[in-house]
Formats: sequence, structure tokens, C-alpha cells
Amino acid sequence: MLPFERHSALRVLQERPVNAGPPLDRLTRAFITPGELFYVRNHGSLPVVRPEEWALTVTGKVRTPLRLSLDELRQRFPRRTTTATLECAGNRRGELAGVKPIPGELLWGAEAIGNAVWEGVGLAEVLAAAGVGEEARHVAFTGLDEIEKGGRTFGFGGSIPLEKAQGPEVLLAYAMNGAPLAPIHGFPLRALVPGYIGARSVKWLANIHVQAEPSDNYYQRQAYKLFLPDVSAEDADWSRGTMLYEAPLSSVICEPADGALIEGEWVAVRGYAYAGGRGIARVEVSCDGREPWVEAALTPDQGEWTWRLWEAEVPVRADTRQLVTRAWDVDGNGQLEDLGAGWNFKGYLNAAWHRVAIRLGETSE
Ligand code: MTE
Repeated sequence: MLPFERHSALRVLQERPVNAGPPLDRLTRAFITPGELFYVRNHGSLPVVRPEEWALTVTGKVRTPLRLSLDELRQRFPRRTTTATLECAGNRRGELAGVKPIPGELLWGAEAIGNAVWEGVGLAEVLAAAGVGEEARHVAFTGLDEIEKGGRTFGFGGSIPLEKAQGPEVLLAYAMNGAPLAPIHGFPLRALVPGYIGARSVKWLANIHVQAEPSDNYYQRQAYKLFLPDVSAEDADWSRGTMLYEAPLSSVICEPADGALIEGEWVAVRGYAYAGGRGIARVEVSCDGREPWVEAALTPDQGEWTWRLWEAEVPVRADTRQLVTRAWDVDGNGQLEDLGAGWNFKGYLNAAWHRVAIRLGETSE
């Protein structure tokens, strides 16, 4: 099998390491994102793993360290499935870069997100088999890829709090949408942490280390931290940023595309909304962010770990320049109206109202 057979529709942001995502209108065609159109986010090499040589080790503050082959993992632990959305913390960074430049980072549109049926074993059950020690507070993952930084070569990694790791939704996933994980999505095994930023769902998983502190891996200790808008890369005190875990509340217009020509007095608007495990309560669409806001119809609720696709018929006015969407989660939280208020120099967690520009054809009012 080739390590990565790229679907012709994927837009490539970077060739090495490969980073790519689907056109937005492909995201709203189906509730489950097809594997070949699922965004790809890589920081390092693409490891080619021979399953017969691969084993997962569970080490650290555990009573019985484990070493498990893929077969042993499948035989010892029950099969679990979770339908969950995975979203990169850098999704929608491109909009933030329009406020103030974000050098050195991939300028994603709103395509760094997808929804899949994940199948594997429960991390909680594997941890229980290892017997978690009393001082354990965090569960760290390390992958088999190779990243070169600061003169060192290391595998991508990160950690999640023990309490989250013991939730029934968190998987060690070996399949996606009914097929074995594709090499590019972490074959043979990846962590799958629903509700959290994608960076915590470590691919090509090799080791799980139970520990008292968060992971010391660069992608936990330094990258994937949030800083206030007035902090720049040059004056950042890396020890002070906030480690990112939960994905933000966000609603995105996937159709019409930015800059589309609209004919007629009504426009059908489609998109996705996701609230990082808190559940979407309501999505609205308006012209230029002004009244009236039209409530969108949502796809059925499939649980808090998945997105909701939505659709609204919106009347356009002669002076309409933009379509705008905003959402609320089930706890009543809304989104930032002002894009700039959420700017940060790494461009993470853009959760501002989403806007697309439209042009009106002659038949519009
Ligand atoms: N795991 C490893 N080993 N290496 C990586 O570069 N990228 C992370 C995460 N897991 C990454 C990784 C990030 S930032 C995201 S958003 C998701 O994988 C993307 O998963 P996908 O490529 O399957 O969509």
C-alpha cells in the first residue's frame, strides 16, 4: 500500500510534511466525512509501520507495565466505537492572519476538520489493565514519526488529563469509517480524544506514559499553547501560555463559497457547527451580521462528540455583501463577533463569527 494516495480534490497546503484538506463544499455533503477527504495534519515524517513488528507499550506510574501487539490489543479488550469530530487547533487560522500576519504557520481555511466513526479499544480499559498509580494525573502519548527541531529528532507527542483519559469516549483507534486506519491517519493505532484539539489524538501511537505532569513533548510544552493578543512570538514566555485541550465553539459557512455570485432573492446556506464536546444548541445566519438572523435547521443530534451540519434559506438584500454565521452551545456560550479579539500569534482556536463575501447577480433585489 502506498503511504498516501491523495484524493484529487484535496487542497495541499504543504508537500513536506504533507498537509491537506478538502474543499468546504465536500464537508457538508455527508455527516460522516469520507476517509479519503479527511484533512491531513502532519508535523514530521510519515512512518511506514510493519504491524507484525509494532507494539504498544504502557509505562510510567502503572502497577503492571504492558507491551501489546495489535492482535493482543484486539483480543484482550472489547471493541468500542465513537462517532467523533476531529478538528485541528489551527482550523480557520487563515482568517486570523488577515487581521495580523502569523508567520511560520499553515494558513488553514475552515477545512481542518472532519467527522468519522472511529473503532478501537477504550483507553480507560487499557489503563485499568495496567493499574494506574496514585500519583498519576496525566496520560502522555508518543508517536513513531520523526520531527527535527532544535538539533533533536523526536516523535510527536502530547498528553491529556487522567480524568479525560478515563472517559468512555477516548479510544485507541485502529479503524476509521469501517476500514483499517490509513497510513496517513496513523496506522496501525492512534489515540482518539473526542472534544479535544486534534493535536492530542496522536497518530502512529507507540507509547502511553502515565505521569504526574503534562507531557514534556514540544507539542505540549511549547506549541499548542494559547497566548493573549498582545503577546508576540518574540516576547512570549512559553511557560505562561495555556495548554490547549478542548476544541472551541464554531460555526462555518461551507456553501456558498467565499466570493460566490448569488442569483435570486434567496440563498441556500450550508455549513457545520461544532462545540468541542459540549453540544450545539442553535445556529444562525444573517446578511452582514445584521437583523434578522435566520435560525438554521440542524442534522439530528448524534451526541456531543460530533458536529451538526446545518442549512438555512436566507433572504438577500440589494446591499448584502457578506453572509455571517454564529452558534451557541448547550451551556449557552456564544462566539466572538470580533475576529481580532481572538487573535494570537500562533493562530489557534479561531472561534469568531464566520463570514463569506458574496456578489449579487442581476436578479437579486
Ligand atoms: N500525531 C503524530 N504522530 N504526528 C502529527 O503530526 N498531528 C496532530 C494529530 N496527531 C500529528 C499527530 C494534529 S496537529 C492533528 S490536527 C491531528 O493529528 C490530525 O489528524 P489527521 O491527520 O488524521 O486528520
